[in-house]
Amino acid sequence: MTRDGSGTTADHGDGEALLAWYIDAGADEAVSEEPVDRFAAARPAARRNIRDAVRTAPAPGPAMTPRTRALPQSHEQTFDNARQLAAGATTLDELRAAFESFEGCALKATAQNFVFADGNPEAGLMFIGEAPGADEDRQGLPFVGAAGKLLNRMLRAIDIDREQAYITNIIPWRPPGNRTPTDAEVAMCLPFARRHIELVAPRILVPLGAVAAKSLLGTTEGIMRLRGRRKIYRTDDDREISARPMLHPAYLLRRPAAKRETWRDLREIRRDLAGTGS
Ligand code: URA
Repeated sequence: MTRDGSGTTADHGDGEALLAWYIDAGADEAVSEEPVDRFAAARPAARRNIRDAVRTAPAPGPAMTPRTRALPQSHEQTFDNARQLAAGATTLDELRAAFESFEGCALKATAQNFVFADGNPEAGLMFIGEAPGADEDRQGLPFVGAAGKLLNRMLRAIDIDREQAYITNIIPWRPPGNRTPTDAEVAMCLPFARRHIELVAPRILVPLGAVAAKSLLGTTEGIMRLRGRRKIYRTDDDREISARPMLHPAYLLRRPAAKRETWRDLREIRRDLAGTGS
């Protein structure tokens, strides 16, 4: 039992609601055993952040003097930069390095880790989610938290181990508080996701949830309408890949009743992989 500001006692329900509110706001980690006076720490911390940003920014190239670097890039320039970096990568290692060096997505500044991919790129089955959550950010791997554990169980249900699939996200940096990424954040990372798919060249691509499905398939249709249907994903070099959008495992954790449809989708994927899909 706790006391709130009104002088009345609050029950456990209120405590849980408050905890959920903190988690939604991004305060989802205990960073220290001792309380910290943030007001006293504010000035040095701000200086430290600027120093870190300068230290981690790429060295100015010949056409990039410190003076021009201080000018904000337009969204178009940043997007062109993303496209060029992604297109220049000819292997997954090169893509990882190019993406990690990309400075055009503000989420990089608040994330702990760059989360690229996990699993087997030769597997023929590629899952793409939205963006890392807290566990993924901590470990630097996609889908290792509660949603990832459910994804593992879903795969096992169709006799596939996590190592027999390749797993990544549209965005490799965790949005603060697990908020939905903005359209601009998705747009800046999309050229890398598209090149990622091109390089892996899976037989079946599975966008998980609305953000991945809509951005990859270039549609405004909702995930409830997209799931359960086979779609064609077209790469930038004009190859066709079979796509099977599915509900996001995090959604299934909140709405277990939707697992029934997902079970159907998984069986279709299994059939497609076995080569007996229509
Ligand atoms: N949700 C995602 O979309 N991706 C992850 O890696 C984890 C949770």
